[in-house]
Amino acid sequence: MNPQVCEALRSGAFRGDHGDTLMVGSTQLLVGLGPAKDYSIDRLRAAAAKIGRVLVKVSARSVTLCESSAWLIGGPSVLEGVAAGCAFAEGLALGTWRIDDFDGTATRRSPRLSSLALWAHDRAMRSGLARGLVVAEGINTARQIAATPPNIANPTWIASESRKIARAGKMTVKVIDYSHAKALGMGGLVAVGRGSAIKPCLVAISWSPKKLSARARKEHVVLVGKTITYDTGGYSLKVNNGMKGMKYDKCGGAAVMGIMQTIAALRLPVRVTAVLAVAENMVSHDSYRPDDIIIMHNGVSVEVTNTDAEGRLVLGDALSWACDSLAPTRIVDLATLTGGVGVALGHFCAGYFCGDVGLRSALESAANRSGERIWPLPLWAEHKDFMRSQHADILNSNPLRSAHPIQGAAFLAFFVRENIPWAHIDIAAVAASDSPHEITGTGPTGFGVRLCVEFIAQMA
Ligand code: BES
Ligand code: ZN
Ligand code: ZN
Repeated sequence: MNPQVCEALRSGAFRGDHGDTLMVGSTQLLVGLGPAKDYSIDRLRAAAAKIGRVLVKVSARSVTLCESSAWLIGGPSVLEGVAAGCAFAEGLALGTWRIDDFDGTATRRSPRLSSLALWAHDRAMRSGLARGLVVAEGINTARQIAATPPNIANPTWIASESRKIARAGKMTVKVIDYSHAKALGMGGLVAVGRGSAIKPCLVAISWSPKKLSARARKEHVVLVGKTITYDTGGYSLKVNNGMKGMKYDKCGGAAVMGIMQTIAALRLPVRVTAVLAVAENMVSHDSYRPDDIIIMHNGVSVEVTNTDAEGRLVLGDALSWACDSLAPTRIVDLATLTGGVGVALGHFCAGYFCGDVGLRSALESAANRSGERIWPLPLWAEHKDFMRSQHADILNSNPLRSAHPIQGAAFLAFFVRENIPWAHIDIAAVAASDSPHEITGTGPTGFGVRLCVEFIAQMA
């Protein structure tokens, strides 16, 4: 071992704890992976993010992964080369991402690294690196969309970004505009988006590859994303700084856009359609209000008790429309639906609801492989009954404040055909973070992209 490295270890300057880094001289970087028994693909991804941040500081130009066995062994199970390469590239690209489209002349940040060459001696790892970069690009697209401020990222902007993603990936795109949504009876989307000067829309992006894998021939996955470009709460206005950060209320849709970019780039042999329910929840003379009763796309009437529970209204229409028009075999929705999911589970996982055993196990296996954790919450008949209204079929929020995340899921269940496997993933607590996340730092995480890309890849 190099004497400087020996000295760093002997003196205790470097302990090798998970997350430790120490530059030795100008060419060697020590990275702590923690105890061998805890080493995992997730630790490797996080370490790569750390490494990436140091490499930016020292203006590195290239990285080579040598002696693959050293990267793969150490934990309870031997890591697989492709997966390890993939996780490493993901960590590097996510850890070094930054949004600097909005840097003004007053900032004095160091310029971006123009490029970093990646190489691994091991062939499997090398192909993993290539895949990881593609996935990370999709995640960073989701983060970029999420971070774009609401004065720019309005419903029209989302539609035009969707068209760009579709064009680049040779996908088809369909935009149902405000008047069309009204004609289709999308009372939820129309009510929520009506108060904004920029009217709501529904966007559908379809990836329909010519070559389908045998397993996926009969499948059509539909991903639905809550895309509220800004959530003021509407007349049930958000107070006490609760509004700050609500540009991230489009993170479900942003993730779905990133997923579509990724599966098209990877040419995954599975049919997938993304449906974005896009609206801005504002206050104006034309806004909907508490006590309004609206009729949704499937004819269900809803008494609005809280205009801040707007996500379920736009998603209800999107789900109903998807069931009617797309013949989905599996539906997964991603939504920053409730603050309550963070109260229940913290910001370490998303909460999810799924009554279908097969879909549940597919999602859980994708979660384990991707490192994006999900945790199940119950959705019983009693929860659906809890949403009943005296004046209409259902309420959008029960004034008895309990089980908010489940109320959201119970509401959505009224809009999905019972025979179609469906999962609702509440990402409100994981879509963006105030305190530095070990891979993505502060701000948008792109949560859901790794999970769903893995889920779709497993169907191939
Ligand atoms: N967009 C919010 C949920 C949210 C809160 C996301 C905090 C991220 C951080 C959603 O539209 C909302 O306001 N939900 C209400 C639901 C309630 C009125 C039933 C909430 O969480 O308080
Ligand atoms: Zn809201
Ligand atoms: Zn919202």
